Amino acid sequence: MNFLDTLVKKRNGEKLSPPEIDRLVKDYVAGEVPDYQMSAFLMAVYFNSLDREETAKLTTSMANSGKQLDLSSVDGIKVDKHSSGGVGDSVSLVLVPLVGAVGLKIGKLSGRGLGHTGGTIDKLESIPGFRVSLDTREFLTGMEKDGMAIMEHTSDLVPADQKLYELRDVTGTVESLPLIVSSIMSKKIACGPDGLVLDIKSGAGAIMKELERARELAQGCVDIGKEVGLTVTALITDMNQPLGRAVGNSLEVREAIKVLKDETSGELREVTVNLVAELLLQSGKVDSIEEGVEFAEDKLASGLALEKFERLIKNQGGNPEIIEDPSLLPTSENRVDVKLDGEGYVSGLDALKIGRAANILGAGRQEKGEKIDHAVGIEIEKKIGDEVPSSGRVATIHYNDDSNLEEAKPLVREAFTLTPSRTAKPELIKERIR
Ligand code: URA
Repeated sequence: MNFLDTLVKKRNGEKLSPPEIDRLVKDYVAGEVPDYQMSAFLMAVYFNSLDREETAKLTTSMANSGKQLDLSSVDGIKVDKHSSGGVGDSVSLVLVPLVGAVGLKIGKLSGRGLGHTGGTIDKLESIPGFRVSLDTREFLTGMEKDGMAIMEHTSDLVPADQKLYELRDVTGTVESLPLIVSSIMSKKIACGPDGLVLDIKSGAGAIMKELERARELAQGCVDIGKEVGLTVTALITDMNQPLGRAVGNSLEVREAIKVLKDETSGELREVTVNLVAELLLQSGKVDSIEEGVEFAEDKLASGLALEKFERLIKNQGGNPEIIEDPSLLPTSENRVDVKLDGEGYVSGLDALKIGRAANILGAGRQEKGEKIDHAVGIEIEKKIGDEVPSSGRVATIHYNDDSNLEEAKPLVREAFTLTPSRTAKPELIKERIR
């Protein structure tokens, strides 16, 4: 069967067989299917979807489209985490050392910022000297020795996702549920963990804005995990407002260090600790989420997670002195306070607008491959439910370029909604799907 037949079948809403799906992935990666035909196929999937069996086959074919990581030399329970992408979401920076501290092993492959959302690799590159390109031996050594390593996704791992994601991005097909599920899960399966926790964001700043859609995505990933024998738990967490109080690369590293130093509480810490607790529960190291939360909290309070972070930085060539002296991280030349007219309580803080403003300042890319400014971003002073006095500061913008500031500042102001009476804080962990 040639690709055109497969494409027409999906256009007509028919079910594809496993060999047809396998063939289309192989031929596309080999360059034998042109982008214009694959674009049409993606649009057919967008409208006619894929059922669970088709999605599972697409996922495993994509996972097998390149090299796979072999973690067999690493003893112990190997886990992984994935986020569907958010604003002010530096969870991985805290989670990776915390996983090392609780005695699990994590080898995390991360990406760069995408659209208005930040990326772990960009954040780590704000640490002077930190290497995000590791060879497989270095990556496995980090896991074996200290229980953790992070590196950038390489093109030989799941090349099908790289090619398909780029095409989806320019053909309006990113939002297709089976395509998101196969994209996320193929990358995770190729990394070979024993267990996986997903942080599926829901809200204004998330790819899945409505809770129902986030639930479908979470359930889709958990189902695929079941099909391929990988334990997957998904938390659906709030992304109506930024997760942490820092948005921008080095600012987020500073905030992560504060959490690791046990100097601050808040949503970033709460989500991270709950994700680690899920991994502990999956691995049988604890009997309940409450016990897992207590165990993880203890590793933050004892300083072990911070020690692990220091080791991670050293292992990957970074300067560990940034922990004691965060001023060694890239710092912007200028800062300006953002104040609103009037007073009241914050009832809305649009994560999408904050993410866009951070991008305009230079924290993210407008185009692929563009250089970013690690120093710039937004520090949020007031979040939903907080009181704002008259002329009170709600945020601080860190910037280097005046013309960027001119464009970004109104967006930051618009992101805030004030009301006369206090609004309840949004529920942070909306659902757990196991
Ligand atoms: N994250 C991914 O890895 N893939 C998608 O398609 C969407 C979010």
